[in-house]
Amino acid sequence: MNARDERSRSCWMDVTIDDDGPLTGDATADVVIVGTGIAGLSTAYELAGLGQQVLLIDRGAIGGGMTARTTAHLASALDDYYSELAAIHGEDAARRYYESQVGAIDRIEAICQADVADADFARVDGYLFAARPEDVADIEAEHDMCCTLGIAAEWADRAPITGRDTGRALRFAGQGRVHPMRYLAGLARAVRRAGGRIHRDTAYVADRENVEGVEIETGTGHVIRAKAAVFATNSPVNDRIAIHTKQLPMRTYAIAGPVPARSVPDALLWDSLEAYHYVRLQPLDEEADLLIVGGEDHRSGTAKNMEARIAALVDWTCERFPAFAKPTYRWSGQVLEPMDFMPFSGRNPGNRRIFIHSGDSGQGITNGVAGALTIAPLIADMPTRYAELFDPGRKPFTARPSLANFIEGQVGAVKNFAEYATPGEIASEEELEPGCGAILRDGARKLAVYRRADGAVSRRSAVCTHAGCIVHWNPLELCWDCPCHGSQFGAEGEVLNGPAVCPLAAADQ
Ligand code: FES
Repeated sequence: MNARDERSRSCWMDVTIDDDGPLTGDATADVVIVGTGIAGLSTAYELAGLGQQVLLIDRGAIGGGMTARTTAHLASALDDYYSELAAIHGEDAARRYYESQVGAIDRIEAICQADVADADFARVDGYLFAARPEDVADIEAEHDMCCTLGIAAEWADRAPITGRDTGRALRFAGQGRVHPMRYLAGLARAVRRAGGRIHRDTAYVADRENVEGVEIETGTGHVIRAKAAVFATNSPVNDRIAIHTKQLPMRTYAIAGPVPARSVPDALLWDSLEAYHYVRLQPLDEEADLLIVGGEDHRSGTAKNMEARIAALVDWTCERFPAFAKPTYRWSGQVLEPMDFMPFSGRNPGNRRIFIHSGDSGQGITNGVAGALTIAPLIADMPTRYAELFDPGRKPFTARPSLANFIEGQVGAVKNFAEYATPGEIASEEELEPGCGAILRDGARKLAVYRRADGAVSRRSAVCTHAGCIVHWNPLELCWDCPCHGSQFGAEGEVLNGPAVCPLAAADQ
Protein backbone atom coordinates (compact mmCIF):
# COMPACT_ATOMS: atom_id res chain seq x y z
CA MET A 1 0.00 0.00 0.00
CA ASN A 2 0.98 3.62 -0.46
CA ALA A 3 -0.74 7.02 -0.70
CA ARG A 4 -2.77 5.73 -3.65
CA ASP A 5 -4.74 3.78 -1.05
CA GLU A 6 -5.96 6.95 0.61
CA ARG A 7 -9.61 7.61 -0.19
CA SER A 8 -9.54 10.58 -2.59
CA ARG A 9 -8.79 10.26 -6.30
CA SER A 10 -6.94 12.84 -8.37
CA CYS A 11 -7.67 13.46 -12.03
CA TRP A 12 -4.46 11.60 -12.98
CA MET A 13 -5.06 8.26 -11.29
CA ASP A 14 -6.73 6.39 -14.15
CA VAL A 15 -3.27 5.70 -15.59
CA THR A 16 -1.75 2.32 -14.75
CA ILE A 17 2.01 1.96 -14.99
CA ASP A 18 3.38 -1.38 -16.18
CA ASP A 19 5.85 -3.03 -13.83
CA ASP A 20 7.61 -6.30 -12.98
CA GLY A 21 5.31 -7.29 -10.13
CA PRO A 22 6.45 -7.67 -6.52
CA LEU A 23 10.07 -8.69 -5.92
CA THR A 24 10.11 -12.45 -5.29
CA GLY A 25 13.76 -13.12 -4.45
CA ASP A 26 17.10 -11.51 -3.66
CA ALA A 27 18.37 -9.24 -6.43
CA THR A 28 21.36 -7.20 -7.55
CA ALA A 29 21.66 -3.99 -9.55
CA ASP A 30 24.05 -1.12 -10.03
CA VAL A 31 21.63 1.22 -8.27
CA VAL A 32 18.52 0.46 -6.22
CA ILE A 33 15.93 3.22 -6.03
CA VAL A 34 13.27 3.30 -3.32
CA GLY A 35 10.22 5.23 -4.53
CA THR A 36 8.67 5.44 -7.98
CA GLY A 37 7.36 8.99 -8.18
CA ILE A 38 8.82 11.79 -10.25
CA ALA A 39 12.17 11.84 -8.42
CA GLY A 40 12.64 8.05 -8.38
CA LEU A 41 11.67 7.36 -11.96
CA SER A 42 13.51 10.44 -13.28
CA THR A 43 16.66 9.31 -11.48
CA ALA A 44 16.22 5.82 -12.92
CA TYR A 45 15.79 7.28 -16.41
CA GLU A 46 18.94 9.39 -16.12
CA LEU A 47 20.97 6.51 -14.67
CA ALA A 48 19.77 4.12 -17.38
CA GLY A 49 20.94 6.68 -19.91
CA LEU A 50 24.37 6.55 -18.27
CA GLY A 51 24.51 2.78 -18.68
CA GLN A 52 23.62 1.90 -15.06
CA GLN A 53 21.39 -1.08 -14.34
CA VAL A 54 18.61 0.14 -12.04
CA LEU A 55 16.08 -1.62 -9.85
CA LEU A 56 13.17 0.33 -8.35
CA ILE A 57 10.85 -0.70 -5.52
CA ASP A 58 7.69 0.88 -4.14
CA ARG A 59 5.65 -0.14 -1.12
CA GLY A 60 2.48 0.08 -3.28
CA ALA A 61 1.41 0.88 -6.83
CA ILE A 62 4.06 2.39 -9.13
CA GLY A 63 3.69 6.16 -9.12
CA GLY A 64 1.11 5.84 -6.35
CA GLY A 65 2.73 8.36 -3.99
CA MET A 66 2.50 12.13 -4.02
CA THR A 67 3.27 12.55 -7.72
CA ALA A 68 -0.22 11.19 -8.44
CA ARG A 69 -1.55 13.90 -6.12
CA THR A 70 0.31 16.87 -7.57
CA THR A 71 -1.14 19.36 -10.04
CA ALA A 72 2.09 19.31 -12.07
CA HIS A 73 2.81 22.99 -12.54
CA LEU A 74 6.17 23.15 -14.32
CA ALA A 75 7.40 26.45 -13.01
CA SER A 76 10.70 28.24 -12.88
CA ALA A 77 8.83 30.90 -10.91
CA LEU A 78 9.38 30.10 -7.24
CA ASP A 79 6.40 29.77 -4.91
CA ASP A 80 8.53 30.86 -1.96
CA TYR A 81 9.75 33.87 -4.00
CA TYR A 82 13.28 34.52 -5.25
CA SER A 83 13.45 37.58 -3.02
CA GLU A 84 13.26 35.21 -0.01
CA LEU A 85 15.61 32.64 -1.51
CA ALA A 86 18.25 35.27 -2.31
CA ALA A 87 17.98 36.73 1.19
CA ILE A 88 18.80 33.30 2.64
CA HIS A 89 21.30 31.85 0.18
CA GLY A 90 22.58 34.89 -1.74
CA GLU A 91 21.95 36.02 -5.29
CA ASP A 92 24.31 33.59 -6.97
CA ALA A 93 22.62 30.58 -5.35
CA ALA A 94 19.17 31.97 -6.19
CA ARG A 95 20.24 32.38 -9.82
CA ARG A 96 21.55 28.82 -9.95
CA TYR A 97 18.33 27.52 -8.40
CA TYR A 98 16.37 29.30 -11.14
CA GLU A 99 18.63 27.68 -13.74
CA SER A 100 17.92 24.27 -12.18
CA GLN A 101 14.18 24.77 -12.62
CA VAL A 102 14.56 26.02 -16.21
CA GLY A 103 16.77 22.99 -16.89
CA ALA A 104 14.16 20.67 -15.38
CA ILE A 105 11.39 21.99 -17.63
CA ASP A 106 13.70 21.74 -20.64
CA ARG A 107 14.56 18.16 -19.66
CA ILE A 108 10.88 17.17 -19.33
CA GLU A 109 10.18 18.69 -22.74
CA ALA A 110 13.09 16.80 -24.31
CA ILE A 111 12.04 13.50 -22.72
CA CYS A 112 8.46 14.00 -23.87
CA GLN A 113 9.70 14.55 -27.41
CA ALA A 114 11.93 11.48 -27.26
CA ASP A 115 9.96 8.98 -25.19
CA VAL A 116 6.60 10.22 -23.85
CA ALA A 117 4.57 11.71 -26.67
CA ASP A 118 1.22 11.24 -24.87
CA ALA A 119 1.98 13.25 -21.71
CA ASP A 120 0.30 16.47 -22.97
CA PHE A 121 3.40 18.56 -22.32
CA ALA A 122 2.85 22.19 -23.29
CA ARG A 123 4.67 25.44 -22.72
CA VAL A 124 2.42 28.00 -21.08
CA ASP A 125 2.94 31.32 -19.33
CA GLY A 126 2.65 31.67 -15.55
CA TYR A 127 1.14 34.66 -13.74
CA LEU A 128 1.66 35.71 -10.13
CA PHE A 129 -0.89 38.23 -8.91
CA ALA A 130 -1.81 39.93 -5.65
CA ALA A 131 -4.76 38.46 -3.77
CA ARG A 132 -4.90 41.49 -1.45
CA PRO A 133 -3.71 45.10 -1.77
CA GLU A 134 -1.19 44.52 1.00
CA ASP A 135 0.53 41.84 -1.10
CA VAL A 136 1.36 44.17 -4.00
CA ALA A 137 4.65 45.21 -2.41
CA ASP A 138 5.77 41.57 -2.17
CA ILE A 139 5.17 41.02 -5.87
CA GLU A 140 6.96 44.26 -6.71
CA ALA A 141 9.90 43.06 -4.62
CA GLU A 142 9.80 39.75 -6.49
CA HIS A 143 9.85 41.61 -9.80
CA ASP A 144 12.85 43.63 -8.66
CA MET A 145 14.70 40.48 -7.55
CA CYS A 146 13.91 38.74 -10.85
CA CYS A 147 15.42 41.73 -12.69
CA THR A 148 18.51 41.56 -10.49
CA LEU A 149 18.94 37.83 -11.08
CA GLY A 150 18.24 37.97 -14.81
CA ILE A 151 15.06 35.87 -14.46
CA ALA A 152 12.62 36.17 -17.35
CA ALA A 153 9.67 37.90 -15.63
CA GLU A 154 7.80 40.98 -16.78
CA TRP A 155 4.69 42.92 -15.83
CA ALA A 156 1.38 42.09 -17.50
CA ASP A 157 -1.62 44.41 -17.12
CA ARG A 158 -3.46 41.63 -15.30
CA ALA A 159 -3.62 37.86 -14.94
CA PRO A 160 -5.71 36.20 -17.70
CA ILE A 161 -8.91 35.60 -15.73
CA THR A 162 -11.74 36.68 -18.00
CA GLY A 163 -13.89 39.45 -16.55
CA ARG A 164 -11.76 39.97 -13.47
CA ASP A 165 -9.25 42.72 -12.85
CA THR A 166 -6.51 41.14 -10.79
CA GLY A 167 -4.33 44.20 -10.98
CA ARG A 168 -1.02 43.88 -12.75
CA ALA A 169 0.59 40.47 -12.59
CA LEU A 170 4.12 39.20 -12.87
CA ARG A 171 4.33 37.04 -16.01
CA PHE A 172 6.85 34.21 -16.29
CA ALA A 173 7.03 33.09 -19.92
CA GLY A 174 7.89 29.55 -20.99
CA GLN A 175 6.59 27.63 -17.97
CA GLY A 176 4.91 24.28 -18.63
CA ARG A 177 2.29 21.71 -17.79
CA VAL A 178 2.29 17.95 -18.16
CA HIS A 179 0.09 14.96 -17.32
CA PRO A 180 2.22 13.64 -14.45
CA MET A 181 1.07 10.01 -14.50
CA ARG A 182 1.33 9.61 -18.26
CA TYR A 183 4.80 11.12 -17.94
CA LEU A 184 5.74 8.60 -15.23
CA ALA A 185 4.33 5.76 -17.35
CA GLY A 186 6.57 6.86 -20.23
CA LEU A 187 9.62 7.05 -17.96
CA ALA A 188 8.85 3.56 -16.65
CA ARG A 189 8.53 2.16 -20.18
CA ALA A 190 11.89 3.68 -21.14
CA VAL A 191 13.59 2.40 -17.97
CA ARG A 192 12.32 -1.15 -18.55
CA ARG A 193 13.32 -1.01 -22.21
CA ALA A 194 16.83 -0.21 -21.02
CA GLY A 195 16.84 -3.30 -18.79
CA GLY A 196 15.69 -1.71 -15.53
CA ARG A 197 13.28 -3.53 -13.23
CA ILE A 198 10.38 -1.93 -11.37
CA HIS A 199 8.75 -3.78 -8.46
CA ARG A 200 5.48 -2.69 -6.87
CA ASP A 201 4.21 -3.91 -3.48
CA THR A 202 7.80 -4.26 -2.29
CA ALA A 203 8.36 -2.30 0.90
CA TYR A 204 11.73 -1.07 2.14
CA VAL A 205 12.38 -1.92 5.79
CA ALA A 206 16.14 -1.45 6.36
CA ASP A 207 19.42 -0.53 4.70
CA ARG A 208 23.05 -1.38 5.36
CA GLU A 209 26.03 0.38 3.79
CA ASN A 210 29.35 -1.49 3.58
CA VAL A 211 32.62 -1.13 1.69
CA GLU A 212 31.21 -2.85 -1.38
CA GLY A 213 27.89 -1.07 -1.62
CA VAL A 214 24.44 -1.05 -0.10
CA GLU A 215 21.99 -3.74 0.96
CA ILE A 216 18.29 -2.98 1.02
CA GLU A 217 16.05 -5.34 2.98
CA THR A 218 12.43 -5.62 1.92
CA GLY A 219 9.31 -6.36 3.93
CA THR A 220 9.26 -9.91 2.61
CA GLY A 221 12.83 -10.55 3.76
CA HIS A 222 14.53 -10.31 0.38
CA VAL A 223 17.81 -8.43 0.00
CA ILE A 224 18.77 -6.15 -2.88
CA ARG A 225 22.51 -5.58 -3.27
CA ALA A 226 23.71 -2.57 -5.24
CA LYS A 227 26.64 -0.20 -5.56
CA ALA A 228 24.42 2.71 -4.52
CA ALA A 229 20.90 3.39 -3.24
CA VAL A 230 18.58 6.35 -3.78
CA PHE A 231 15.66 7.17 -1.49
CA ALA A 232 13.02 9.19 -3.32
CA THR A 233 10.08 8.66 -0.99
CA ASN A 234 8.56 12.12 -0.39
CA SER A 235 9.80 11.99 3.23
CA PRO A 236 13.03 9.95 3.42
CA VAL A 237 12.28 6.53 4.97
CA ASN A 238 15.96 5.80 5.67
CA ASP A 239 16.43 8.83 7.87
CA ARG A 240 15.26 8.95 11.47
CA ILE A 241 16.02 12.53 12.46
CA ALA A 242 18.54 14.59 10.44
CA ILE A 243 16.50 15.62 7.39
CA HIS A 244 13.21 15.62 9.28
CA THR A 245 14.33 18.52 11.48
CA LYS A 246 14.85 20.63 8.34
CA GLN A 247 11.40 20.37 6.76
CA LEU A 248 7.72 20.43 7.64
CA PRO A 249 4.89 18.30 6.18
CA MET A 250 1.93 20.23 4.75
CA ARG A 251 -1.40 18.95 3.37
CA THR A 252 -2.68 20.70 0.27
CA TYR A 253 -6.03 20.29 -1.51
CA ALA A 254 -7.09 20.29 -5.15
CA ILE A 255 -10.29 20.14 -7.17
CA ALA A 256 -10.82 19.64 -10.90
CA GLY A 257 -13.87 19.95 -13.10
CA PRO A 258 -14.79 20.51 -16.73
CA VAL A 259 -15.09 23.90 -18.42
CA PRO A 260 -15.96 24.46 -22.11
CA ALA A 261 -12.88 23.96 -24.27
CA ARG A 262 -10.80 27.11 -24.63
CA SER A 263 -13.08 29.12 -22.32
CA VAL A 264 -10.25 29.46 -19.79
CA PRO A 265 -6.77 30.58 -20.92
CA ASP A 266 -4.15 27.82 -20.94
CA ALA A 267 -1.81 29.26 -18.33
CA LEU A 268 -0.51 28.74 -14.81
CA LEU A 269 -1.91 31.13 -12.21
CA TRP A 270 -0.79 31.73 -8.63
CA ASP A 271 -2.12 34.26 -6.13
CA SER A 272 -0.17 35.70 -3.22
CA LEU A 273 -1.84 34.21 -0.15
CA GLU A 274 0.44 32.30 2.20
CA ALA A 275 -1.57 29.16 1.41
CA TYR A 276 -1.75 30.34 -2.18
CA HIS A 277 -4.21 29.26 -4.86
CA TYR A 278 -2.74 27.56 -7.91
CA VAL A 279 -4.58 27.06 -11.19
CA ARG A 280 -3.94 25.23 -14.44
CA LEU A 281 -5.76 23.62 -17.34
CA GLN A 282 -5.62 20.05 -18.63
CA PRO A 283 -7.04 19.41 -22.12
CA LEU A 284 -9.77 16.77 -22.20
CA ASP A 285 -11.33 16.68 -25.70
CA GLU A 286 -12.87 18.94 -28.36
CA GLU A 287 -15.69 19.88 -26.01
CA ALA A 288 -14.05 20.47 -22.67
CA ASP A 289 -10.92 21.19 -20.69
CA LEU A 290 -10.33 20.27 -17.07
CA LEU A 291 -9.79 23.24 -14.77
CA ILE A 292 -7.59 22.30 -11.80
CA VAL A 293 -7.37 24.50 -8.72
CA GLY A 294 -5.41 23.91 -5.52
CA GLY A 295 -4.75 25.59 -2.18
CA GLU A 296 -6.03 25.68 1.43
CA ASP A 297 -2.76 24.16 2.75
CA HIS A 298 -2.19 23.43 6.43
CA ARG A 299 0.34 21.58 8.55
CA SER A 300 -0.31 17.84 8.13
CA GLY A 301 -2.34 16.32 10.91
CA THR A 302 -3.57 19.61 12.35
CA ALA A 303 -6.99 20.07 10.71
CA LYS A 304 -10.20 18.10 10.43
CA ASN A 305 -12.27 20.60 8.38
CA MET A 306 -11.26 19.15 5.00
CA GLU A 307 -14.80 19.47 3.61
CA ALA A 308 -14.86 23.17 4.49
CA ARG A 309 -11.47 23.65 2.84
CA ILE A 310 -12.60 21.97 -0.36
CA ALA A 311 -15.86 23.96 -0.30
CA ALA A 312 -13.76 27.13 -0.01
CA LEU A 313 -11.73 26.04 -3.05
CA VAL A 314 -14.95 25.45 -5.02
CA ASP A 315 -16.32 28.88 -4.04
CA TRP A 316 -13.04 30.58 -4.97
CA THR A 317 -13.04 28.84 -8.34
CA CYS A 318 -16.71 29.51 -9.21
CA GLU A 319 -16.29 33.18 -8.36
CA ARG A 320 -13.40 33.59 -10.79
CA PHE A 321 -14.34 31.01 -13.44
CA PRO A 322 -18.15 31.01 -13.85
CA ALA A 323 -17.92 28.23 -16.46
CA PHE A 324 -16.74 25.88 -13.70
CA ALA A 325 -19.96 24.19 -12.54
CA LYS A 326 -18.76 21.62 -10.03
CA PRO A 327 -15.71 19.50 -9.28
CA THR A 328 -15.58 15.99 -10.66
CA TYR A 329 -12.38 15.31 -8.72
CA ARG A 330 -11.29 16.42 -5.25
CA TRP A 331 -8.18 15.23 -3.48
CA SER A 332 -5.35 16.08 -1.13
CA GLY A 333 -1.60 15.55 -1.20
CA GLN A 334 1.40 16.18 1.00
CA VAL A 335 4.12 18.74 0.40
CA LEU A 336 7.36 18.89 2.38
CA GLU A 337 8.48 22.45 3.05
CA PRO A 338 12.26 22.78 3.56
CA MET A 339 13.30 25.40 6.10
CA ASP A 340 15.46 27.28 3.59
CA PHE A 341 13.28 26.85 0.47
CA MET A 342 15.82 24.60 -1.23
CA PRO A 343 15.24 20.87 -1.89
CA PHE A 344 17.50 18.13 -0.54
CA SER A 345 19.12 16.13 -3.34
CA GLY A 346 22.40 14.34 -2.92
CA ARG A 347 24.37 12.18 -0.50
CA ASN A 348 22.52 11.33 2.66
CA PRO A 349 24.40 12.88 5.60
CA GLY A 350 26.78 10.25 7.01
CA ASN A 351 26.67 7.97 3.96
CA ARG A 352 28.83 7.61 0.86
CA ARG A 353 26.67 5.40 -1.30
CA ILE A 354 23.18 6.39 -0.16
CA PHE A 355 21.43 9.36 -1.74
CA ILE A 356 18.14 11.07 -0.97
CA HIS A 357 15.72 13.44 -2.61
CA SER A 358 13.15 15.36 -0.53
CA GLY A 359 11.94 18.85 0.39
CA ASP A 360 10.15 19.65 -2.84
CA SER A 361 8.00 22.47 -1.46
CA GLY A 362 5.41 23.44 -4.10
CA GLN A 363 7.81 22.66 -6.97
CA GLY A 364 7.48 18.87 -6.83
CA ILE A 365 7.86 18.00 -10.49
CA THR A 366 10.65 20.41 -11.37
CA ASN A 367 12.53 19.78 -8.13
CA GLY A 368 12.16 16.02 -8.62
CA VAL A 369 13.71 16.29 -12.08
CA ALA A 370 16.41 18.73 -10.94
CA GLY A 371 17.19 16.26 -8.15
CA ALA A 372 17.52 13.42 -10.65
CA LEU A 373 19.86 15.56 -12.76
CA THR A 374 21.96 16.03 -9.62
CA ILE A 375 21.93 12.55 -8.09
CA ALA A 376 22.49 10.53 -11.29
CA PRO A 377 25.82 12.22 -12.16
CA LEU A 378 26.92 12.07 -8.50
CA ILE A 379 26.45 8.30 -8.57
CA ALA A 380 28.22 8.03 -11.92
CA ASP A 381 31.08 10.18 -10.57
CA MET A 382 30.45 12.91 -13.11
CA PRO A 383 30.37 16.69 -12.64
CA THR A 384 27.06 18.14 -11.51
CA ARG A 385 26.18 21.81 -11.24
CA TYR A 386 23.75 21.76 -8.34
CA ALA A 387 25.27 19.29 -5.86
CA GLU A 388 26.42 21.96 -3.43
CA LEU A 389 23.16 23.90 -3.73
CA PHE A 390 20.96 20.90 -2.94
CA ASP A 391 23.34 19.19 -0.48
CA PRO A 392 21.17 17.46 2.17
CA GLY A 393 23.96 18.04 4.70
CA ARG A 394 24.00 21.82 4.32
CA LYS A 395 23.94 23.84 7.50
CA PRO A 396 20.98 25.91 8.76
CA PHE A 397 20.99 29.59 7.85
CA THR A 398 20.64 32.91 9.67
CA ALA A 399 17.34 34.22 11.02
CA ARG A 400 14.61 35.13 8.52
CA PRO A 401 10.82 35.20 8.77
CA SER A 402 10.76 31.76 7.14
CA LEU A 403 12.95 30.48 9.96
CA ALA A 404 10.52 31.88 12.52
CA ASN A 405 7.71 30.00 10.79
CA PHE A 406 9.82 26.90 10.74
CA ILE A 407 10.68 27.09 14.43
CA GLU A 408 6.98 27.54 15.16
CA GLY A 409 6.36 24.36 13.18
CA GLN A 410 9.02 22.43 15.08
CA VAL A 411 7.56 23.65 18.36
CA GLY A 412 4.36 22.05 17.11
CA ALA A 413 6.23 18.76 16.83
CA VAL A 414 7.53 19.06 20.39
CA LYS A 415 4.05 20.02 21.63
CA ASN A 416 2.73 16.86 20.07
CA PHE A 417 4.41 14.87 22.81
CA ALA A 418 2.22 16.66 25.35
CA GLU A 419 -0.67 14.75 23.78
CA TYR A 420 0.53 11.65 25.60
CA ALA A 421 -1.06 13.23 28.68
CA THR A 422 -4.24 14.75 27.21
CA PRO A 423 -7.70 13.08 27.13
CA GLY A 424 -8.82 11.11 24.09
CA GLU A 425 -11.14 12.60 21.48
CA ILE A 426 -13.86 10.11 22.37
CA ALA A 427 -14.67 8.55 25.72
CA SER A 428 -15.76 5.25 24.20
CA GLU A 429 -15.54 3.54 20.83
CA GLU A 430 -19.34 3.33 20.91
CA GLU A 431 -19.29 7.00 19.87
CA LEU A 432 -17.66 6.14 16.53
CA GLU A 433 -19.81 6.06 13.39
CA PRO A 434 -18.92 3.55 10.64
CA GLY A 435 -16.08 4.87 8.46
CA CYS A 436 -14.78 7.17 11.21
CA GLY A 437 -11.65 7.19 13.35
CA ALA A 438 -10.69 8.95 16.58
CA ILE A 439 -8.16 8.85 19.39
CA LEU A 440 -9.28 6.98 22.50
CA ARG A 441 -7.49 7.05 25.84
CA ASP A 442 -6.94 3.56 27.26
CA GLY A 443 -5.27 3.93 30.65
CA ALA A 444 -1.80 5.33 30.03
CA ARG A 445 -2.03 4.66 26.30
CA LYS A 446 -3.66 6.37 23.37
CA LEU A 447 -5.32 4.23 20.71
CA ALA A 448 -6.11 5.02 17.07
CA VAL A 449 -9.58 3.51 16.80
CA TYR A 450 -11.43 3.06 13.51
CA ARG A 451 -14.90 1.64 12.92
CA ARG A 452 -15.21 -0.21 9.61
CA ALA A 453 -18.29 0.04 7.40
CA ASP A 454 -19.48 -3.33 8.71
CA GLY A 455 -19.34 -2.02 12.28
CA ALA A 456 -16.24 -3.94 13.39
CA VAL A 457 -13.62 -1.90 15.23
CA SER A 458 -9.86 -1.71 14.56
CA ARG A 459 -7.71 -0.67 17.53
CA ARG A 460 -4.06 0.30 17.01
CA SER A 461 -1.57 2.25 19.07
CA ALA A 462 -1.76 5.97 18.23
CA VAL A 463 2.03 6.26 18.55
CA CYS A 464 3.73 6.89 15.19
CA THR A 465 6.33 4.20 14.54
CA HIS A 466 8.81 6.72 13.13
CA ALA A 467 9.69 8.76 16.21
CA GLY A 468 6.79 8.47 18.60
CA CYS A 469 4.42 11.40 17.92
CA ILE A 470 0.66 10.89 18.31
CA VAL A 471 -1.14 10.47 14.97
CA HIS A 472 -4.35 12.32 14.06
CA TRP A 473 -7.38 11.09 12.08
CA ASN A 474 -7.84 12.47 8.56
CA PRO A 475 -11.57 12.28 7.75
CA LEU A 476 -11.11 13.08 4.05
CA GLU A 477 -8.53 10.40 3.28
CA LEU A 478 -9.64 7.96 5.99
CA CYS A 479 -6.10 7.66 7.24
CA TRP A 480 -3.95 8.65 10.20
CA ASP A 481 -1.60 11.59 9.64
CA CYS A 482 1.46 12.21 11.78
CA PRO A 483 1.95 15.96 12.23
CA CYS A 484 5.63 15.66 13.06
CA HIS A 485 7.33 14.43 9.86
CA GLY A 486 4.55 13.40 7.49
CA SER A 487 3.99 9.67 7.99
CA GLN A 488 0.56 8.46 6.95
CA PHE A 489 -1.10 5.23 8.04
CA GLY A 490 -4.19 3.50 6.68
CA ALA A 491 -7.35 3.35 8.78
CA GLU A 492 -6.18 0.07 10.27
CA GLY A 493 -2.57 1.13 10.75
CA GLU A 494 -0.83 0.10 7.49
CA VAL A 495 1.98 2.40 6.33
CA LEU A 496 0.93 4.57 3.38
CA ASN A 497 3.70 7.16 3.43
CA GLY A 498 7.03 7.44 5.24
CA PRO A 499 9.21 8.19 7.02
CA ALA A 500 7.59 5.42 9.10
CA VAL A 501 8.23 1.95 7.72
CA CYS A 502 6.35 -0.09 10.35
CA PRO A 503 2.57 -0.13 10.82
CA LEU A 504 0.91 1.28 13.94
CA ALA A 505 1.32 -1.37 16.63
CA ALA A 506 -1.62 -3.59 17.50
CA ALA A 507 -3.45 -2.36 20.59
CA ASP A 508 -2.66 -5.53 22.52
CA GLN A 509 1.12 -5.27 22.04
FE1 FES B 1 8.11 11.21 12.59
FE2 FES B 1 5.60 10.45 13.01
S1 FES B 1 6.57 10.94 11.15
S2 FES B 1 7.14 10.80 14.48
